[in-house]
Amino acid sequence: MTFEQARAQFPVLERVAYLQAGSAGPLARQTIEAMAAQEERNLREGRVGLEYIERVLALRAELRAELAGLVGTEEEQVALTASTTDGCNLVLAGLDLGSSDEVITTTDEHFGLIGPLHASGARVVVVAPDADAITAAVTSRTRLLAVSHVLWTTGQVLPVREIRERTGIPILVDGAQSVGAIQVDSADLDFLTISGQKWLCGPESTGALVVADPERLRVARPSYFSQQGYLPDGSFEPRAGARRFDPNWVPTALMSGLLAAVRLRPEWRFERGVEMAERCRKLLLDSGEDVISPRERATIVSWRPEGEASTDVVARLAAAGVVVRDIPKTGLVRASVGWWTSDHDLERLVVGLKG
Ligand SMILES: Cc1ncc(COP(=O)(O)O)c(C=O)c1O
Repeated sequence: MTFEQARAQFPVLERVAYLQAGSAGPLARQTIEAMAAQEERNLREGRVGLEYIERVLALRAELRAELAGLVGTEEEQVALTASTTDGCNLVLAGLDLGSSDEVITTTDEHFGLIGPLHASGARVVVVAPDADAITAAVTSRTRLLAVSHVLWTTGQVLPVREIRERTGIPILVDGAQSVGAIQVDSADLDFLTISGQKWLCGPESTGALVVADPERLRVARPSYFSQQGYLPDGSFEPRAGARRFDPNWVPTALMSGLLAAVRLRPEWRFERGVEMAERCRKLLLDSGEDVISPRERATIVSWRPEGEASTDVVARLAAAGVVVRDIPKTGLVRASVGWWTSDHDLERLVVGLKG
């Protein structure tokens, strides 16, 4: 697939420079067609009968296998969630932490992770997003490390496997800004979240949680899918593997849409995404912007505008057809650069900033 062919799958790219996959990626025509086909079938056939249930279960199995393949794991390790936030809540609830336990996180985490951390009841220790700082914060009370793989603020990549190895403490990795943007391997990570709507360009309310050892996490939020048998008092036998953590009935349209989105990505996606992000960083530096993102980063590029509020810069760029966002409380503007980003998109960004 050529770049032009791959890019042509996303109608919105004809109109705007779409630098917002860190929030929600562009939708491809095939993704919407796959969703519409499922809804059309539901409309005609109804959501009843054995055939419907079999279709739902087949889609669940297919999606679980596909998402497992994305991060180099097996279906048994994957729960189908609605988001990264969902995954973080499932892990924190299941660990049964208390006020004498500590969890270590960083200053640059999204509420989707730190909200569940706070609600866990454990003492939340916040340090700089740095392997040494995280390692130094470990005490005999530390039960969990909970960090992003790629920071949503700057695109910095944390060496999560190295941190896990150095500390010997279980790690919950927020993969919202890494899975789909860069190659991710879940090996040696205790928990990894996936968001479907961001870099995978899937529908909203899709995602997954990868659990290395499902037997060791309590099922704190059971759904019908969690059990393979139960008693009148609700006590149940959990299903094998991470399926026991499946928190929701996932609509057929969402499952088909995510499958289509994941499968249409070209082979060269990771190489090009990072290359275009570096081009973006250089262009911003050349035009005098105070770029915060390090050279070694994933596909997010952030800068601090001088003499203008970040929200004003975002609004000004939006008026020029360039979609970026501000990061609240930091004064930063963030561009999310994907494998679908063109040189022209980046020119529009730089010209829009000057205009
Ligand atoms: C690092 C990070 N974690 C979590 C989230 C929340 O993701 P979700 O909407 O899939 O829960 C985001 C969304 O922007 C994010 O950037």
